[in-house]
Amino acid sequence: MATHETRKPGAARHRLLFACLGNICRSPMAEGVFRRVAEDAGQAHLFEIDSAGMGDWHKGQAPDHRAQKAALSRGVDISGQSARKVELEDFEDFDLILAMDGSNISDLNEIAPHSARHKIRRFLDFAPHLDEDDVPDPYYGGEEGFDRALDLIEAAAKGLLAELAREREATEKG
Ligand code: 4NP
Repeated sequence: MATHETRKPGAARHRLLFACLGNICRSPMAEGVFRRVAEDAGQAHLFEIDSAGMGDWHKGQAPDHRAQKAALSRGVDISGQSARKVELEDFEDFDLILAMDGSNISDLNEIAPHSARHKIRRFLDFAPHLDEDDVPDPYYGGEEGFDRALDLIEAAAKGLLAELAREREATEKG
């Protein structure tokens, strides 16, 4: 999702793109939650964070009101985001593209340049203690689906932050 604060990914240590189908439910919540988790850890300066969808059906729209409400109930305001589609240049501009489900992974692999396929990762791989592979699409369900998605997203966001910290530490030790 673009925001008025969105800059072109540049010099940040980690450039993360969260991806789902429509970019109005799961990936905007993941973008907002990850930003919050990084801020809480005092690490926000290390990250460029954005989100995008596989389609452009909702281009320019704010997140689904149920996603906004569920995120806000956990103190995360995602109202300023607007939907956009994954573009070819995203595979160059970002270091990791974090897919919410297996279908997103297939779609991303179809459009990614071969040299960038290693950047596509399943978001819930960063929450291996959960018995889930996919963040279920809550779009056609009730509000409880958004809470469930947020539980999974919060766990994976914390796992991803910790994994990237371990990688930085390993790099710095040489
Ligand atoms: P998301 O949910 O991929 O989590 O943003 C969806 C939003 C919209 C649609 C599908 C999924 N749609 O078909 O419009």
